[in-house]
Amino acid sequence: MDLTIRIPRPDDWHVHLRDGAMLEAVVGYTASRFRYAMIMPNLNPPIATTELADRYQKRILRAAGNQSPEFQPLMTVYCSTNLDQDDLIRGHEAGIVKAVKYYPAGATTNSDHGGDNILNFIDLFETMADQKIPLLVHAESTNPEIDLFDREAAFLEQELHPLCEQVPNLQVTVEHVSTSVGVDFALAHQRVAASVTPHHLSRNSSDLMAPEFDPDLFCKPIINSEADRQAIVSVVTSGNPSFFLGTDSAPHPTSEKYGEEAKAGIFNAAYGLEVVAEIFAKENRIEHFSSFASKNGAAFYGYEPSQDELLLTRKQVDVELASTLSTRDGDKVVLFGRDEASHWTVSPI
Ligand code: NCD
Ligand code: ZN
Repeated sequence: MDLTIRIPRPDDWHVHLRDGAMLEAVVGYTASRFRYAMIMPNLNPPIATTELADRYQKRILRAAGNQSPEFQPLMTVYCSTNLDQDDLIRGHEAGIVKAVKYYPAGATTNSDHGGDNILNFIDLFETMADQKIPLLVHAESTNPEIDLFDREAAFLEQELHPLCEQVPNLQVTVEHVSTSVGVDFALAHQRVAASVTPHHLSRNSSDLMAPEFDPDLFCKPIINSEADRQAIVSVVTSGNPSFFLGTDSAPHPTSEKYGEEAKAGIFNAAYGLEVVAEIFAKENRIEHFSSFASKNGAAFYGYEPSQDELLLTRKQVDVELASTLSTRDGDKVVLFGRDEASHWTVSPI
């Protein structure tokens, strides 16, 4: 089917831009399409203070250059026992820090400085609720006895639900929701929303595992069952305001994806928008695409949608699209979503 749609310039509410040569290689993909980008703090060492967030934001803007005047990185700080509440409050009041990101220690890439249990940070979260600082949560249990595919549900039940009961005014985002349990959780809790990735919307655990394990689809939380994918697609394409796009674009060099141990993370900043547009088009719900990509997240975080617009047109593109990028250090990164992107063109208006 051919179709054309105009949407306010979208926001990416969850993205990893890395640093150094990788930052230089990837930032343009995000900056050329997205307005706001919620920048994840899991560098090594983590972005854990206002000062580090401020310096990282400047590096991002320098790397982005002045091609994309609307692009604005929104900075987050990493939740650990070292987080200084006064520094956080100052950083938030100064407009530098927009949110705090919680990682369970060991759950994903560069999460070693995270927490053992989210309930250990109640005191911090009470301060954040008072100051209206949102908490972004990687909701995945690290208990090795829990099946990998059940870890989001376990975390939500054992840690995030009690937290929401104890600090009901805290604004919480379940990041990269991956299961029907996660969808239901966001629907059931008033101050909770969920970001959703292109890959959890478009792939399932069979794509990941069969005919053989595909490192290019390996990410955390793990891509779950087809029933889970359908639950996510259904709520997102309904236009429900508690769900919005966070690509979780997370580049890793192929040397680290195809080595002994595959690093978790999928680079989808290049074609993620097309992957999402294709889902909405297939579901016959293209009228809700702009809510998901450009409006719901902005409303949740207290912003107006962009005045700027993008034009997306669906028709077979004849040019051969790139399947990898290279950094100036000679690393290669695989671009997720090339098949979907071959059906679309995306351009500013
Ligand atoms: C992310 C990364 O590589 O930084 N990886 C991932 O699989 N999503 C971290 C994260 O968000 O979990
Ligand atoms: Zn992430």
